[in-house]
Amino acid sequence: MTQKRLEGKVAIVTGGALGIGGGTARRLAADGAKVLIVDVMEDAAAANVKRISDSGGTAIAMTGDVSQESVAKSMVERAVNEFGRLDIMVQNAYSGGPDSAGSAVEVKPEAWRSGIDLLVTALYLGAKYGVPAMEESGSAPGFNAGAWTGAGLRHGSPPNMNVGRIVNLSSVHGLLQAPRSLIYEAGKAAVIGLTRQMAVDFGPLGITVNAIAPGHIVTERGEATWGEVGDEAGFKLFELQYPVRRTGVPDDIAAGIAFLCSDEASFITGVVLPIDGGLSIQLQENIVMDTKDFIVENPDLKTHFDQGRGTARR
Ligand SMILES: NC(=O)c1ccc[n+]([C@@H]2O[C@H](COP(=O)([O-])OP(=O)(O)OC[C@H]3O[C@@H](n4cnc5c(N)ncnc54)[C@H](O)[C@@H]3O)[C@@H](O)[C@H]2O)c1
Repeated sequence: MTQKRLEGKVAIVTGGALGIGGGTARRLAADGAKVLIVDVMEDAAAANVKRISDSGGTAIAMTGDVSQESVAKSMVERAVNEFGRLDIMVQNAYSGGPDSAGSAVEVKPEAWRSGIDLLVTALYLGAKYGVPAMEESGSAPGFNAGAWTGAGLRHGSPPNMNVGRIVNLSSVHGLLQAPRSLIYEAGKAAVIGLTRQMAVDFGPLGITVNAIAPGHIVTERGEATWGEVGDEAGFKLFELQYPVRRTGVPDDIAAGIAFLCSDEASFITGVVLPIDGGLSIQLQENIVMDTKDFIVENPDLKTHFDQGRGTARR
């Protein structure tokens, strides 16, 4: 039997109950990793653990708010106590609160602080406790540096460490700005800076740190919101803006994360990988013209924009 590509590895997925984190936890487990899901939603996390176990994977759940230092510390301890090591951290947890939209004039200081705590501080805390545990764990069992020596073409010594992987969730909103979304846009841009800094700091330890910038991913929550808006045309309008003419699903993101967590990705670090169906590479003027045509053809269009939500964030 061929070995699964993450066999022998232990992963923490924050916000791993639902959405992108939920799909990522399932994917990493399907690839052989043992997964600790850390989430504020106890029942949904337990349901995802059951789904993973029912498919033959290994996962456990822990309830906690990852913006709290005590939770960041104890999730790392839990992974190591339960599974004996730590190799992978996917720092994904985020759900915008009701007061999270707005410009700098509109946003309240407490909403700013709690938003940034979860978007940015949680990722610093995860690394603060996770990196020493990865170092302590060392290279995963089965690691074979010889596999990388490349028929003598390599200059210098082969990698002697393949210690860990951190993948942080940014967004296309970390690359480009949307109106009245100060907390999210600033937070996701900060995730990119934090990722690059960590890549420089932890590369010498054998730990790669990368970020993913998803486009619009229809999660369980997103699906409910679209359903609530009850507008097929609105969803089509979203799809129209993507060169691949669809929005994403959690599995699209999970596949990219699983690759970045694999041994094959050992020379990729500090990268921000957009997984957005090409959304962010386009010239905006043309999207606006297509959108205008679509709106003219669909005069009853509702979408988030008409629901007083401001811009559909993410
Ligand atoms: N869905 C998208 O379109 C999209 C696009 C770009 C980036 N992202 C990013 O991807 C990540 C996941 O988004 P999603 O759409 O899957 O979200 P989601 O709301 O579907 O799932 C988020 C998960 O995080 C958990 N969570 C929330 N706050 C938490 C906390 N303080 N501590 C622990 N767990 C917590 C939730 O309970 C939930 O299980 C986020 O960082 C988000 O900003 C999402």
